[in-house]
Amino acid sequence: MKTSRSVASPRVVCIEDFRPLARRRVPQSVFDYLDGGAEGEVTLRENCRVFEDVSFRPRHAVVTPECNLRTRVLGFELSLPFMLAPVGYSRLMHPGGEVAAARAAGQAGTAYILSTISGHRLEDVKAASNAPVFYQLYLMGGRAAAEAAIERARVAGFSALVVTIDTPVSGIRERDFRNGMKELVSGSPLQKIPFLPQILLRPGWLASFLLDGGLPGLPNVVVPGKGPLPLVDVAAALAESAVTWADLRWIRELWRGPIVVKGVLTGDDGRRAIDEGAVAISVSNHGGRQLDCVPASLRVLPEVVEAVNGQIEVWMDGGIRRGGDIVKAICLGARAVLCGRAYAYGLAAAGEAGVHRAIEILRADLERTLRLLGCPSVADLDRSYVNVPKSWD
Ligand SMILES: Cc1cc2nc3c(=O)[nH]c(=O)nc-3n(C[C@H](O)[C@H](O)[C@H](O)COP(=O)(O)O)c2cc1C
Repeated sequence: MKTSRSVASPRVVCIEDFRPLARRRVPQSVFDYLDGGAEGEVTLRENCRVFEDVSFRPRHAVVTPECNLRTRVLGFELSLPFMLAPVGYSRLMHPGGEVAAARAAGQAGTAYILSTISGHRLEDVKAASNAPVFYQLYLMGGRAAAEAAIERARVAGFSALVVTIDTPVSGIRERDFRNGMKELVSGSPLQKIPFLPQILLRPGWLASFLLDGGLPGLPNVVVPGKGPLPLVDVAAALAESAVTWADLRWIRELWRGPIVVKGVLTGDDGRRAIDEGAVAISVSNHGGRQLDCVPASLRVLPEVVEAVNGQIEVWMDGGIRRGGDIVKAICLGARAVLCGRAYAYGLAAAGEAGVHRAIEILRADLERTLRLLGCPSVADLDRSYVNVPKSWD
């Protein structure tokens, strides 16, 4: 109850207001895992900053009594033009984790994408939402584990597979190294000891974590005959989970539903995804967590949109913190966007209530921005509503 009041308070006016609340509730290692990026965090910063390069071209003296925020994604009608991105280890941020996020997304009428690296069973996550839920696939645990997860996702009613292609190895997130994230998640008790003081500084989080039973293994990465992947094996499994175009062809044999490729940063990869049977792509640099110094997602969105030439849906993710950011991405050709940290800060700060509040902030932003632009609906947004720097053309 305390957390619900705090997120409804005037302190949380925009997504950025969740950051200090999240920082205060979870241990430093968990906060930095969520907040940080790869190496010098150049792409992480640029993902957000680049939105400032695009300005609006409003149409004034226009009446927009009701703004329509609905959009169609993979044939599903969503109430909002943004979805919740896959965020690994959400259950570390709050015991509700992926179930809480999926429920909040469902209640808002939008889609949730469940990460392979999740702490809740995929069946429970699907059951939490009436809206579409998609499964994000890494080849952790090899093809046999992936095949088992794909079959479970099919039976549970997941509507699409989102295959992430930008993680041949995990990016170096320097904050995680300093905080001992690897030791804390998958080290021996002795290896954990030096990193425990920061955790003891967050007794509220620690109590909820222990009451939740601690972090289990990965219930959706089940190597046949071996059971769920234990945490001690996660780092090694991630290192061997690269997805190639050949793997995508193999995945397409197993999964008859829609396949989305996440992690496209060039027109060439966009066209390749079409050739390999994807029905949508997400222009994404993994929130600046993989290869540092790649361009901001928004910056390469026009190139990818032009290259795929309307043949498939283009989504984008990276740096979305305001409804205005979502509007800019749609004006530049995105069908919809994925929000990662924007809702995960809310989850870390206040569990499900925090995710609800984050979604509501973005929804209200969107409606206000459309009205101020003089645009009646998301479907009417196009490039005529924004100025982009000449150097982008
Ligand atoms: C803590 C964290 C964990 C993530 N885990 C995954 C993951 O398991 N799979 C994946 O495809 N993307 C993952 N991502 C990337 C997001 O899906 C998304 O691309 C990114 O967060 C977008 O940038 P934003 O956080 O600035 O919105 C993760 C992002 C964060 C912040």
